Amino acid sequence: MRDPFIWAVATAAYQIEGGRETDGRTPSMWDAIREIPGRIKDGSSKEMSCEGRKKYKEDVKLIKSLGVTHYRFSIDWSRVMKNGKTRNPTGMEYYKDLCRELRKEGIQCIVNLFHADLPLDLYNEGSWLTEEIIPYFVQFARYCYEELHEFVSIWVTFNEIRMHAWAGVVKVEGEPFHSLDIDYKKFLGEVSVARAVMVASRNMLLAHAKVYRLFHEKNDACRVGIILGGHACFDADGETVSSVSERATKSMVHLYLDPLLHPSNDWTGGVREYLGEDLPPWSEEEKKLIKNTVDVMCFNYYRPHIVKEGKGPSLVEQIFNFTMVDDDWPKIGGDSSWVRLHPQGLISLMEGLRGKEGEQKYPNVPILISENGVNDDPSLNSLDDTNRIRYIGEHIDAILEARRRGVNVIGYTAWSLMDNLEWDDGFEVRFGLFQVNLESEEKTRTPKRSAEWYKKKIEKERREEDQ
Ligand code: BGC
Repeated sequence: MRDPFIWAVATAAYQIEGGRETDGRTPSMWDAIREIPGRIKDGSSKEMSCEGRKKYKEDVKLIKSLGVTHYRFSIDWSRVMKNGKTRNPTGMEYYKDLCRELRKEGIQCIVNLFHADLPLDLYNEGSWLTEEIIPYFVQFARYCYEELHEFVSIWVTFNEIRMHAWAGVVKVEGEPFHSLDIDYKKFLGEVSVARAVMVASRNMLLAHAKVYRLFHEKNDACRVGIILGGHACFDADGETVSSVSERATKSMVHLYLDPLLHPSNDWTGGVREYLGEDLPPWSEEEKKLIKNTVDVMCFNYYRPHIVKEGKGPSLVEQIFNFTMVDDDWPKIGGDSSWVRLHPQGLISLMEGLRGKEGEQKYPNVPILISENGVNDDPSLNSLDDTNRIRYIGEHIDAILEARRRGVNVIGYTAWSLMDNLEWDDGFEVRFGLFQVNLESEEKTRTPKRSAEWYKKKIEKERREEDQ
């Protein structure tokens, strides 16, 4: 008998909490980003927030109203460790209260340790460019484990590790920039940007592996995962997979999967050929440390890409010799949205993990879809979000169909519980199942049509699963 399917909804600490100075919290990198004039596109002030820290009891009721089995949230490192380094019990108490409240409602926790935001001191000391950050991350993780493990069903170390390494540390050509402008040469000397990105990737992978080992020493039955962005790539017809699309997928997904899960526990498939000296090596000891440190493979999925041969302008395209081209998949979040409706991309990605005949496969690790969703379509009334219902619905159906065909997918997570700080875009790009009235004192939450729809869909699918 398989475990029941996980039905979840997600948020991330910095995107919903507010309470920047509550609990003795210390400043984070995103606090500093929001102080840069003109940086946040909607001009919202650095204090603007959904006040999730204050309103957590009410929010747990919203989560309950969806009928989900699990809630995925992240822990703000700056709230539970002063300056990222010293335990802050007042900050931790908040997360314990949140977990207790969830438990009262029968909702299980998927806890994500790192979602895009870093204590400011640690950023200024070199962020993920230096190995010195690793013990601080392990200390933070240990504290979370000690205080919260009784509540947690799945731990996640990093949200979208690739996205953070390529967009959250240094400025990289063609990637969004979700960071401050660190002078990486101060920490690494005269090296290329690609090298800086790969050093950051390597340090994050090592930090992940150390936390995995630590948690398993404490309880070997615990489940620890890591999240990757589901950047499946296709050829011009949007369906075929060829050497260029495989290479592009490799550059954005397998570059991270391989050291963790490929039987060689190394960067494989010609990656070295493309990255050359910019690819830091693993020692034999590190390979052992990192080997198979994934109990649950998590993917955030919003869209795939179409690629062709030849170097495009971004760094990743330059290195791996491909160009991303336009697609004609439905722009279901409106003309300016980057999200696309193409569930098949996710299915191909999951099926690709099983490998082809004769190829060494990845182990058959359970897959959790840890985020999937679309922004409000500006041409629709936000509360009548039929585009979101279609988007989430088609993905759920495709995922459940893949599960019936034997793909080891164990759960689905809608992004997001409520409209929230969409990073550089501010609050105007809205992914929530609940609308938040930021103008009101109470930051009132109102269910969109998709909230009711998701609830009914979960009820229906759970009934069918029971039969
Ligand atoms: C991130 C979220 C973000 C969402 C929509 C994901 O990649 O994990 O933090 O809000 O994309 O942009």
